[in-house]
Amino acid sequence: MRGIVLAGGAGTRLHPLTRVTSKQLLPVYNKPMIYYPVETLIKSGIREILIIVAPDHAGDFVRLLGSGKEFGCRFSYEVQEKPNGLAEAFLIGENFIDNENVALILGDNLFEDTFVDPVRNFQSGALVFASKVPDPERFGVVEFDQQNKVLSIIEKPKEPKSEYAVTGLYVYDNTVVQKAKSLQPSARGELEITDLNNVYLREGTLEVAFVEGEWLDTGTFEALYQATTFIRNKVHQQL
Ligand code: G1P
Repeated sequence: MRGIVLAGGAGTRLHPLTRVTSKQLLPVYNKPMIYYPVETLIKSGIREILIIVAPDHAGDFVRLLGSGKEFGCRFSYEVQEKPNGLAEAFLIGENFIDNENVALILGDNLFEDTFVDPVRNFQSGALVFASKVPDPERFGVVEFDQQNKVLSIIEKPKEPKSEYAVTGLYVYDNTVVQKAKSLQPSARGELEITDLNNVYLREGTLEVAFVEGEWLDTGTFEALYQATTFIRNKVHQQL
């Protein structure tokens, strides 16, 4: 399994914090934000990781994370020229993915959970991870039937059909590259990860698991503050 950390995007919702740096380089208590998703992949057993960054601060990511040696793995880097959407990661990462399966994690998502078994046991199709949230309209939302079978995944629905958000960790088989190539940009001009998941859903090969620990995104001031507090409390509990 290869891993991709996507740390593109302009982070405009966090201006002026992100005017001169990337969102994923901002501190979450005692570490830069991107450490958390990188460590989630590593703890899940992934050792070859592609880090995709926006052009403006690409050098800062390389300076921060380096070759990966310090983390016991190998990092490579690519640039996402424009915020063209999460699914573009599979076009940018085509050579890196090669003939392997791949896990994508968003550079601003914090998971208090490891995914050793799902990664080890993954064979084919797509596996996404859902988490119950109070504000599902901010996310991709999964609709289930009574047997927990997925009926739909809708991106930022005005009227969410459940309280379950699709979190920013996705595991795909190698057909993901071809599937990403078949996508058309959405109304907001992006190759949507939700559209990609819907290709797998239509094919009948999409599975949803639930995040057991805490999941935090950091896309707003409030969410960033909560993530910082959460990590601080965790660090203090461990002292
Ligand atoms: C993206 C995805 C969304 C997912 C979320 C997780 O949203 O489009 O489906 O629920 O990440 O963080 P964005 O961060 O681009 O608003």
